[in-house]
This record gives sequence, C-alpha cells and structure tokens, in this order.
Amino acid sequence: NGVEQLGEMIARASVIVPFTGAGISTECGIPDFRSPGGLWSRNRPIPFDEFIASREARDESWRRRFAIDATFKAAAPGRGHRALAALYRAGKIPAIVTQNIDNLHQASGFADDHVVELHGNTTYARCIGCGLTYDLGWVRQRFEASGHAPDCATCHEPVKTATISFGQAMPEEAMRRATELAAQCDLFIAIGSSLVVWPAAGFPLMAKRSGAQLVIINNEPTEQDDIADLVIRHDIGDTLGPFVGN
Ligand code: OAD
Ligand code: ZN
Repeated sequence: NGVEQLGEMIARASVIVPFTGAGISTECGIPDFRSPGGLWSRNRPIPFDEFIASREARDESWRRRFAIDATFKAAAPGRGHRALAALYRAGKIPAIVTQNIDNLHQASGFADDHVVELHGNTTYARCIGCGLTYDLGWVRQRFEASGHAPDCATCHEPVKTATISFGQAMPEEAMRRATELAAQCDLFIAIGSSLVVWPAAGFPLMAKRSGAQLVIINNEPTEQDDIADLVIRHDIGDTLGPFVGN
C-alpha cells in the first residue's frame, strides 16, 4: 500500500518538506472542511469583504469561533503530527508548510519559526487595521458583555481571528518561505489536503517542477494525484504512526 516505499523515500531524502491540510487533524477531533460533515457542509464560509462590511457577519463569525473553541482547546497532536515532529528533530525537515490554523504542529514540537502558516492561526486574534494581536479571551469577554464583536482598542477597526479568509490577501512572508522550501526540498509530502484551494495548492506542483519527488497521503482522491510519484490513499495516522512506533 505504499508505506514501505514511503519509508525508503524518507530514508533517501535529505531535505523533506511536509505540506499539511485539515486531514492531519481530524483524528485530533477537529473537523476538516470538505468531507461529509466537514465545516463547509455545516456553514457557508464568511468572505473577508463581508466580515469588513457587516457587523452581523462579524458577530456570526465570532459566535462560530466560540462554539468550536472547546474542540480546539481539547485537541492534542495526533500520530501524523508526532511522526513529522520526529523527522524534524532528526534534522530531515527544515520547516513545515501548513494550511492549518490549529497550532498543532507547534504543539507537537516544531519551533514557531519553522511552521509556515499559509492561512494563519485561529488560536489568537488580530486587528485588521493596525495588526495588533489579542487573546481570544479578550475578544470573548467583550463579546459577552456587549453582545457584539469588539473593535480594536487602539484604532477601532474590526478584530478577527488571525486567519486568512476567502478574499483576504495571502501572508507575503509565508508565501515567500513556502516558495523557497518547495524549490529546495528533494521530497515534498502533501498530507490531508484536498488540494483545491489556491494559491496554497500550487506548492506541491511547484516542488514537483523544481525536481522534488512528490508524495500525497490522503484518504480520498486529490486534484494532483496524477502528478505524484506516490499516492497513499489511506488514513494518515495509520500511515505515519509506524514511523514513531504507534
Ligand atoms: P479539506 O477538507 O478540503 O481536505 C481534507 C482532506 O483530508 C480530505 O480530502 C479528506 O478526505 C482528507 N482526510 C480527512 N481525514 C483524514 C485522515 N484521517 N486520513 C487521511 N485523509 C483524511 O481541507 P484542506 O485541503 O486543508 O482555508 O482545505 C484547504 C483550505 O480550505 C483550508 O485551509 C481552509 C479551507 O477553506 C481557509 O479557510 C482559507
Ligand atoms: Zn487596530
């Protein structure tokens, strides 16, 4: 089923760049976006323009975030996160590129500076005007006191989770680093992503074009299976767990 071949590719590679999506965190209790029962089957995403334009949208966005807060707080790194952290400690992975916003790669042992977050992070908030960061507790306290999403205490612009919404500009530094990593690696492993959201989905293709081998681990077909050197259509924890002995 490809696991043995993956082991050989990992052993041979000197620079491995993992690229993760929501599928690596489902075993941690965090739903993905596009599976049956995924987040986008329950809620329509709120685009950035709407968040800016409408107080209703901001209130709704924060209500959803508070509703899922206990899930994020309870989540611990899974077998996939732990296996990647072990390869990182072994010096095989210079940095990880992720579309995830759950902070679990950092929790598994990656230094903050070695997690390239393409879609930001939902464990804290940021003012969309001046960029000041806020704890979620600060936001929640004010939301509960007033019934509405608070604005920035300094510049009075809206405060949003530090994530990238549809229609919002991509973080430049993260894009630059992901581009560099895709170009430098000799093995690029896309894990738990449907690979439909661009520009993030451009990185596997970019790595392949720069001469890396491309492995895709996902339990459903993805948009880029046809260009991969190896596709493992199987559970991520079951596939990567054996690399750390579980
Ligand atoms: P998706 O929900 O699109 O894809 C997750 C993939 O992981 C699906 O193909 C699942 O079948 C697979 N999967 C889930 N659990 C798995 C498991 N245990 N083992 C193997 N495969 C599993 O999530 P992403 O590709 O991460 O962006 O979504 C990309 C972006 O779309 C997200 O970053 C988010 C979303 O809109 C923004 O919010 C900007
Ligand atoms: Zn501000």
